[in-house]
Amino acid sequence: MAGDSDAPRDAQTPGTGGPSEPSDLNQGRSSKLGEAGADTQRAHGFCPRCFTNLEQSPPCPECGFKFERRAGVIDHIGTSDREKRAAEVEDFYTKSPFPGYGEVNNGAALLDRSRRAPFLVSLDASIAPDAEVIDIGCGTAQLAAFLALSGPRRRVLGIDGCGASLACADEFRNRSGISNLQLVRSDIFDLPVAAGTFQTVISRGVVHHTPDPQRAIECVAQCVAPNGYLILGFYETRARLFHCMRRALSKLTGKPIRMLDPVLRRKDLDTEKKRIWIEDQYLHPLEHILPLPGVLKQLRALGFDWVRTLPPASFGGTLFDATPEPSAGALFSLRAGWAMAGLTDPDAGLVLVVARKRPN
Ligand SMILES: C[S@@+](CC[C@H](N)C(=O)[O-])C[C@H]1O[C@@H](n2cnc3c(N)ncnc32)[C@H](O)[C@@H]1O
Ligand SMILES: [Zn+2]
Repeated sequence: MAGDSDAPRDAQTPGTGGPSEPSDLNQGRSSKLGEAGADTQRAHGFCPRCFTNLEQSPPCPECGFKFERRAGVIDHIGTSDREKRAAEVEDFYTKSPFPGYGEVNNGAALLDRSRRAPFLVSLDASIAPDAEVIDIGCGTAQLAAFLALSGPRRRVLGIDGCGASLACADEFRNRSGISNLQLVRSDIFDLPVAAGTFQTVISRGVVHHTPDPQRAIECVAQCVAPNGYLILGFYETRARLFHCMRRALSKLTGKPIRMLDPVLRRKDLDTEKKRIWIEDQYLHPLEHILPLPGVLKQLRALGFDWVRTLPPASFGGTLFDATPEPSAGALFSLRAGWAMAGLTDPDAGLVLVVARKRPN
């Protein structure tokens, strides 16, 4: 993740976090969420639909939201069958929950590491200390946990479709005593939240791993409150061009070519981290690439205005300070620059768009 100084994707760009570093909890399929109601002793957190504190077992006393809790996680999918490709993606992340915590084993260590990452520092500084924040496709929820720890008055909701990743997040949350982070297992296409209620919506590295990225963007965008901000990270067509060629070449040669991959070239990463990188980048079961102009057009149609993209990663002010919307020519140059940077890009073409929802 941008800011994981020991992870392949680090501070300069908005990366998805690099290879996870599985803890015992992450290993294999057996780490799916536990039985419903297994952990009634833990804090009940807040309702994902109306933010009312959940002092007791379901349903929510305010909005009536019914839910099952498995271990400390609200499970909105339960045991129902998932769409075939969504199930494949969940299986994939069950084997390698992403991004994982590695040796960051408590809240203080996560804060320390995150505060060395320029992107995370800007993100934290941009989000109000009492905001409602949702991270859709949060994986093991490092980013969500950081925002919750850094802003104890925030209410942060981490949503993911993978039970094993959330079990890892739940374990870290408990170990670190984080009470303002709610974790929900849900599909992106059936989010258990009320439309237009979050001031900040983050979804990084997720929509391109769904069967229908445009519909996924729509679902994510729906959560943003009027005047709120969306931070959407996706594999951009031009930015990912070099990686697509690199991956095609790896199919011909039977394995990734180390020299062509800045992450595999790194000497400070161990074999396990590189294995997970190879899985994620070369062997993922479901991946799309999206052109920036198409995403911007869709966001405009959904009622959003341009704020910025990352990269470029360095800027004064906060992440939410508007920058001039680029002309078609400037957009072309920006994307050409991303394509040219392919050989050294540690994010392999992951781009973030920041957009603001127009007032009603
Ligand atoms: C590459 S990881 C990104 C994790 C995190 N956002 C980050 O930046 O480190 C993609 C995540 O999207 C989740 N995901 C993929 N398809 C999903 C779906 N249909 N519904 C919910 N989550 C999904 C996966 O379970 C996985 O945790
Ligand atoms: Zn409620």
